[in-house]
Amino acid sequence: MNHPLSERVIDFINASPTPYHAVDRMERSLHSEGFSTLREEDAWELQPGGRYCVIRDHGSLVAFVLPTERESAWQVRMVGAHTDSPCLKLKPNPVKQLRGTLVYDVEIYGGALLISWFDRDLSLAGLAGVEDDQGEVHHLLFDFKKPVTLIPHLAIHLNREVNKEFKLRKHEDLSPIADSNPKADPAAFTKQFERRILRHAAPQLSAGRSATRLLDSETLLYDTNPVTRIGIEGELITGARLDNLLSCAVGLEALLDTVRLTETNTTSAVLPMLALFNHEEVGSVSTTGADGNLAESILRRLMPDPEQLARSMACSRMLSADNAHACHPHHPGKQDENHCPPINQGLVIKTNANQRYATTARTTAHLRSLARKAKARLQSFVVRSDMPCGSTIGPMLSARLGIRTVDVGVPTWGMHSIRETAGVQDLTDLHALISAFLTDSSV
Ligand code: CO
Repeated sequence: MNHPLSERVIDFINASPTPYHAVDRMERSLHSEGFSTLREEDAWELQPGGRYCVIRDHGSLVAFVLPTERESAWQVRMVGAHTDSPCLKLKPNPVKQLRGTLVYDVEIYGGALLISWFDRDLSLAGLAGVEDDQGEVHHLLFDFKKPVTLIPHLAIHLNREVNKEFKLRKHEDLSPIADSNPKADPAAFTKQFERRILRHAAPQLSAGRSATRLLDSETLLYDTNPVTRIGIEGELITGARLDNLLSCAVGLEALLDTVRLTETNTTSAVLPMLALFNHEEVGSVSTTGADGNLAESILRRLMPDPEQLARSMACSRMLSADNAHACHPHHPGKQDENHCPPINQGLVIKTNANQRYATTARTTAHLRSLARKAKARLQSFVVRSDMPCGSTIGPMLSARLGIRTVDVGVPTWGMHSIRETAGVQDLTDLHALISAFLTDSSV
């Protein structure tokens, strides 16, 4: 099955082992379509119809197209998603010795499905704080690309019960192998490791400068086994970080398609916006998280008059896009039998009576009407009444901004596994719906 959209999404996720790589790549795509980056520390000179993006701390990105209409209350059409995924991260002292073997010392980021991290070909990537030969500090991306480590399982012969019950000791069991040579010295290894990060990061420095010192780094582990299509007809996508780079990628595609198509539109009050945040998987309370001030700060600068902003929010809407749990054939008791969305049968509207999702009957009605026109298929998800419900950036942004929101997502198996699985056809629905949403002027 030929499906160019899913191939582009796969390329994007494979090139984005960390939120920082994802944001960097998206910024470059936006620049190639005429967007320019606004720095938060600068004064903004905004032009009607201008295309802009704002990046905070390399991990969050908000891109938007200003309306050409100056007078009216702007209708923001915000597509929200998150750039981070659960993973393992190196601690500041990155190695330790365990029984004659050097291992990396890691922290768990977010709610990773940890059993899926064993026996994988892992690599390291992240953001490095580097001092150059003139004493200036730079924040640079790095990616080792090749598999450099793994977390070996204990043989079944040494734990015969493992197939009945696997008990994971988070502190002891998750240290990836750094050097199996019993003579390896932790201090020497760390020095060499830091030199390696510098070597990978240095090419981003401008000509004539060289990287002299690694000051700090945020180093994430990732699976080098690429995201790929599987299934008899290639109908499934499987791989890491589908939650939620898949929504980021499709959102970006839709935004770029929108600006290509509406080049000559001169009278719109619609403000299409893509808002992608870091730190969702750890609760969103951070400078770059959706529960921080990023979205609000940008909207206030776009609409400094409080009355204009209030009027605008009253006629604005948000589509919070984050993966949903697909109906799993092995686990009938874990999912609501009447709200169990199969893969490749359309996008999922997520509803929760306790507002763990921001969806309301009002926002769903708008969405259903839009989806019918855009020929996007919709399904419904509700968690079982005897199970806790997950959440998204939807409720916090809708509460903070007063923006009416609907939570949607692509049905996914194995959420937070190192390999998650989603359906190719559902990407088409997501793309159609976001494209229609970004330009929708109905109130
Ligand atoms: Co998510």
